Amino acid sequence: MLKGKKIVLGITGSIAAYKTATLVRFLVKEQAEVKVVMTNSATQFITPLTLSVLSKNPVLRSFEAADKSWNNHVELGLWADLIIIAPASANTIAKMANGICDNLLLACYLSAKCPIVIAPAMDLDMYLHPSTQKNLVTLQAFGNLIIPPNDGELASGLLGMGRMAEPEEISAWIRVFLAPKKSKLTNRTILINAGPTREAIDPVRYISNHSTGKMGYAIAEEAAKRGANVILVSGITHCKANNANIKVIHVISASEMTEACLKQFENADVTILTAAVADYSPKNYSSHKIKKEENNLSLELVKNIDIAKELGMQKSGKQIIVGFALETNNEVGNAKTKITQKNLDLIVLNSLNDAGAGFGADTNKIKILNRLGEQKDFELKSKSAVAKDILDEIELMIS
Ligand code: CTP
Repeated sequence: MLKGKKIVLGITGSIAAYKTATLVRFLVKEQAEVKVVMTNSATQFITPLTLSVLSKNPVLRSFEAADKSWNNHVELGLWADLIIIAPASANTIAKMANGICDNLLLACYLSAKCPIVIAPAMDLDMYLHPSTQKNLVTLQAFGNLIIPPNDGELASGLLGMGRMAEPEEISAWIRVFLAPKKSKLTNRTILINAGPTREAIDPVRYISNHSTGKMGYAIAEEAAKRGANVILVSGITHCKANNANIKVIHVISASEMTEACLKQFENADVTILTAAVADYSPKNYSSHKIKKEENNLSLELVKNIDIAKELGMQKSGKQIIVGFALETNNEVGNAKTKITQKNLDLIVLNSLNDAGAGFGADTNKIKILNRLGEQKDFELKSKSAVAKDILDEIELMIS
């Protein structure tokens, strides 16, 4: 399962670092390509040379490489298919949970898009301290896998939780974590729209909104991982789709997005409408740049087609449509109205009043409502973890 996988192994300061020699050997034996990143304190417990020999790669320790060039943490984070942080000290866990970035490993962690596995190692009381427990819950909510430490004799002589899981146990956890999940979405066609639309006023100007498309792309990635055939109708965004199962149809305006969605809808088992479609467009497009001759300029706008409503009317009994609602007031009431008016099956509500939710953020805090008015509230999470929650909810609807 690890054959050909690119793995960053991050080692932090703990006596359990000595066990990473065995872990690296195991990963290399499985034909993974391993790059080791060590914090300074980790080097007091095991030598970089040992890990370099075993991993067959230079060990990275700081932003400056041995040849004085730059160890590019962003490249490293994006290179990795998997990051394992083992042993993860209380200090590193606290920094990871809070976005602190004062060494190469933390910068790499913050830049990564791949799954992250964390194997804590520390003394009993440090592990049980409420701050450590809170940090672990935070990291789990970000979508990271925490491999629980073992109960046993600790280097301090104390007995209890805190011993890093053995290399064989870590590898067993990783196998389960990476194993393709059985999903009801496998081989289903999922239509997703994402991002903003741009409504042209003249050749130079347009009306748009702050949508970045991150939520829609995160759902597309997760659906593709679950084996769905994803059709992503995307407005202009900086996001990139990185999965062969995702076919992207690029559009600019609301009318182009409408046309593409209507065309693809017939084949879609599930449709997820995350796009911030402009509700109105200029009635008249000026083919010449509008000059600033008048003191006041009025633009007449006309209503665009509501894609969700249109698809809701066309929907067959087997199709599922999920809408989004971004609200600033009377959030649940407005979401309930939209689910009925647009004939949706689920609506994902996010409120601009919640810190960390809404445009541009890498996190989101959602509620999911169904047609019966039932509501599930979720914690603030990374958009990729939110994508999992949304797709889990959709899977529950598929028999
Ligand atoms: N939507 C759509 N087509 C539109 C407008 C919205 O498909 N022209 C979809 C959105 O993609 C989202 C849902 O409808 O899934 C709700 O969008 P939202 O902007 O919250 O609501 P609106 O219907 O536009 O109503 P209002 O702006 O009055 O809140």
